[in-house]
Amino acid sequence: MSTLITNIGELTTNADDGTLHAAAVLLEDGRVAWVGRAVDAPAAAEIVDAAGRAVIPGFVDSHSHIVFGGDRAAEFEARMAGQKYAAGGIRSTVAATRAASDEELRARLRGFVDEMHAQGTTTIEIKSGYGLDIHTEQRLVRLAAEVTDEVTFLGAHVVPAEYADDPGAYVDLVTGPMLDACAPHARWIDVFCETGAFTVEQSRRVLEAGIARGLAPRVHASQLGPGGGVQLAIELGAASVDHGTYLTDEDVAALAASDTVLTLLPGVEFSTRQPYPDARRLIDAGVTVALACDTNPGSSFTSSMPFCIAVAVRDMRMTPSEALWAATAGGARALRRSDVGLIAPGARADLVMLEAPSHVHLSYRPGVPLIRAVWKDGTIV
Ligand code: NIG
Ligand code: FE
Repeated sequence: MSTLITNIGELTTNADDGTLHAAAVLLEDGRVAWVGRAVDAPAAAEIVDAAGRAVIPGFVDSHSHIVFGGDRAAEFEARMAGQKYAAGGIRSTVAATRAASDEELRARLRGFVDEMHAQGTTTIEIKSGYGLDIHTEQRLVRLAAEVTDEVTFLGAHVVPAEYADDPGAYVDLVTGPMLDACAPHARWIDVFCETGAFTVEQSRRVLEAGIARGLAPRVHASQLGPGGGVQLAIELGAASVDHGTYLTDEDVAALAASDTVLTLLPGVEFSTRQPYPDARRLIDAGVTVALACDTNPGSSFTSSMPFCIAVAVRDMRMTPSEALWAATAGGARALRRSDVGLIAPGARADLVMLEAPSHVHLSYRPGVPLIRAVWKDGTIV
C-alpha cells in the first residue's frame, strides 16, 4: 500500500534537505519511501492533497508517566493557591495505583495514548514508578510494554512510605529483586535524583545496577534545585537527563561537551509555578535540547506537545524551529532512535499535517487544535 501526500506548503524534514516547499512525501509499507518536489513525485495507490498545509514529523515524546491510578487535581488546586510542589506527592498516586486493577490501569493508559496520538505524538516513552513494590512495578512495565517499545523502569521514583525509616533497604530492593522482575520488560533505567527522592550515591547504585542488567540510563535531575544528578548522568553516559530547571554553569558546560541530551519539560514549570529554564542559554552554549510533556498526575498533566512547544517559544526563548526540532528530532536523540523524528527515506512513516501553512503556527496560535491528520507507521490514526 502506498500513499502520496502532495501539495505540501511547508515540509519540515529534520534531514539534510531541511525545509521544502511545494513538496510531497511517499509512504510505503509503514516507511517513508521518497521525499521531494511535488512536481517530481512518483505515482501512488492513494493521493492525499495537503492543499498547501504544513507537514512535520510526528512528535517524539521521550518522557511520560501514564500508567497510574487516581489524579491529584486537589493538589494542583492547592498549588495554584500558593502551596509548593514537593516530591512526596508521588506517594498518593502510589496508593491509588496499587489499588487499581490491571484492567483499570490499561484502560486509562490506552486513553492517554489515544489522546497523545490525536495531538500528533507518534513515539511515546513510558515510565513505571507509581508501584514501588515488586508486584506493582512489574505490572506497570508490562502494561507499558503493551503500547510502546520505550519502557523505562523507575522503581527509584521516591522512597515509599513503608521504607521511610530505611531508604537504603529500599535501594537494595530496587537494585535487586525489583530490577530482576522489571528488567525483562524495559529498555531504560531511570532515577529521580533530587532532595526528597534519591541522593547522588543512591542514584549511582540504581543506574549502575540497571546498566549491569542491560538497561540504558536516563535521569530525572535538577527539577527542584541544583544537585549532582546532571553530572552523574553524563558520567554514566545517559541518553538524556530530564528537567534541568536549576542548572549550574558547570552543568551547562558539561552537557555541551557530552552526548547526553537535556530534555526540558515546560509543563512542569507551568504546573508547579517554577521558573522556566532558559533554553536560549543552553542552546547557545551547545547543549542538545529535547522537549517532552512529562505527562503525570502530579507535576505536569498535559499530554500536548504543541502546548509544550508554545511555552518553550514564549517563555524559554526557543525559536519556533528549535522548539519543533526539540519535540521531534531532539526526542529521538533522547531515546537514541534514528528511525523517528525525521521525514526521510527509510524513516518510520510518522507524520503530522497541520491545519496551518507553517509550523510557526504551533506557537503563534497556542491552544488551537491545529493537528489536521496524523500518520503512524504509514497509517492514519
Ligand atoms: O517527572 N520528578 C519526578 N517525577 C515526576 C513527578 C511525579 C509526580 O509528582 O507524581 C516528574 O515531574
Ligand atoms: Fe518525570
